Amino acid sequence: MGMAWIVGPRVVHVLAVVAWIGGVGFVTTVLLPAVRENVPREDRVAFFERFERRFAWQARFTTALAGLSGFWMVEALGLWGWFLEPSRWYLHLMVLVWTVFTLMLFVLEPLFLHDLLLARARVDPDGTFERIVRLHRVLFALGMIAAGGAVAGAHGWLMPV
Ligand code: HEM
Repeated sequence: MGMAWIVGPRVVHVLAVVAWIGGVGFVTTVLLPAVRENVPREDRVAFFERFERRFAWQARFTTALAGLSGFWMVEALGLWGWFLEPSRWYLHLMVLVWTVFTLMLFVLEPLFLHDLLLARARVDPDGTFERIVRLHRVLFALGMIAAGGAVAGAHGWLMPV
């Protein structure tokens, strides 16, 4: 066996997911609380947006990579039928999390979300910032559940549903 396995889609997939969901965890549990504690409320959203822009580029790259490698696995391993099986719920959750991020990073954010958040923050700084915090918490939690369910399911520990 050569070294080809190292670029196998599963390895690429897990590395992309580690970097991506790990980054979301950092933003959720470290960056956002630090901004809340250290930045005056009327500057929080703008301050956060400036910092997250750096992560957004990483997230675009890792999201694309995770999606490509994920669908590559579904196709190469012939797993399309799994989408009809409730015990493969983790597959649906992975795709759901991926779809939300893809929409946010590639469509909504560049089109109008960035400007909308800044505009809203001028009217309601606290509400807008806390909404950003809640969104990140939900997405981080869903990402972790998807990753946990995927590892369990991929190794044969399926829920009896
Ligand atoms: C378009 C989106 C995605 C597709 C099509 C996809 C597809 C897949 C497939 C087919 C597998 C192999 C499953 C198995 O062998 O039972 C897998 C594994 C995995 N996926 Fe995804 N995935 C996607 C997104 C995600 C996301 C968003 C996460 C994390 C939040 C994730 C985390 C994982 C993990 C941790 C594994 C387990 C690898 C292992 O233990 O072997 N995936 N994915």
